[in-house]
Amino acid sequence: MTADLSPADSAKFAAAKRACDFVEDGMTLGLGTGSTAAWLLKCLGELVTRDGLRIRGVPTSQRTAELARESGIEVITLEEARWLDLTIDGADEFDGGLNLIKGGGGALLREKIVAAASDRMIVIADISKQVAHLGAFPLPVEVVPFGWQATRRIIVESVVALNLPGDNVTLRMDGDAPYVTDEGNHILDLHLSRIGNLRQLARVLNQVPGVVESGLFLDICDLVVVGHQDGRVELRDIRADMTDTGRVGKGGRDNLFSDLDD
Ligand code: A5P
Repeated sequence: MTADLSPADSAKFAAAKRACDFVEDGMTLGLGTGSTAAWLLKCLGELVTRDGLRIRGVPTSQRTAELARESGIEVITLEEARWLDLTIDGADEFDGGLNLIKGGGGALLREKIVAAASDRMIVIADISKQVAHLGAFPLPVEVVPFGWQATRRIIVESVVALNLPGDNVTLRMDGDAPYVTDEGNHILDLHLSRIGNLRQLARVLNQVPGVVESGLFLDICDLVVVGHQDGRVELRDIRADMTDTGRVGKGGRDNLFSDLDD
C-alpha cells in the first residue's frame, strides 16, 4: 500500500499519524471532515482496535460519522459530549498566523461549532495548504436557502466595498442542483484571490442576513501538523512560536501503511 499512495496521500497520512500523538486515553475528540481527516480516522481506528485506546468522537459531518463507526471509534453527539478535549481537522489553506480557510468539503458550519467547543484545535495538512496570504482557495460561505440570491447580492456589494473582487461569487452545485450541507443550507464560494484584512471580511460577512457562517477560521487553530510526502512532519504552534520537525516512520510495527494494506 505504501507504494500505492500518491505523494499527496503520503503527506496527509504523515500529518494524520503524527497528530495521533496528541490524543490521550479517555479523551473526547472533535473529528474533522475531508480526505486528510479520513486518514486520521483510520489511524485512530487502528489505535482503538489494536491498542485499546478509549476515545469518543463528535463527527463534523455525516460522512465522518460513517467513517468513524467503520473504524471502530465510538460516535457521540456534541450535546452528549458537552465539551471536547481536542478537535483534529483538515484545512484548505493556512497562513503563518494559523488562520484557516475551511469548507472545501462543505462541512464548515459543524466544523466551526465543534472546534469552538474544544479546548484545543489541531489542523492536519499537507504542505500544499500552506500559503502566505489566504484567499487563493475560494472562500466558502454557508447561506440559508431562502433568498440566497439576495444574500449573494449583498455579499458581492460587501466584498466590493472592501476592495475585493465581487465578480466571481458562485453557488456550489451538486450535479444540476445546489449543494446542500448537513444543516440543509447552500454554499457560496467567493473567489477573492487574496484577502487583505481577514477580520474585517469575517465581520462583514457574518453581518449579512442569510449568512450562517464563513469558512474563515480565525484564532481557533492552536497547532498545525504539516505533512510532507517523504514522511517528514513539522509542527507549527503560533502561541509557543515553535517549529518542530520529525518524521513518521515507514517501517516496523509503527507502520500504518502496511497495517492498512487490505
Ligand atoms: C471540509 O468542509 C473542509 O473544511 C476540509 O477540512 C478541508 O476541505 C480539507 O479537506 P482535505 O483534507 O480533503 O483537503
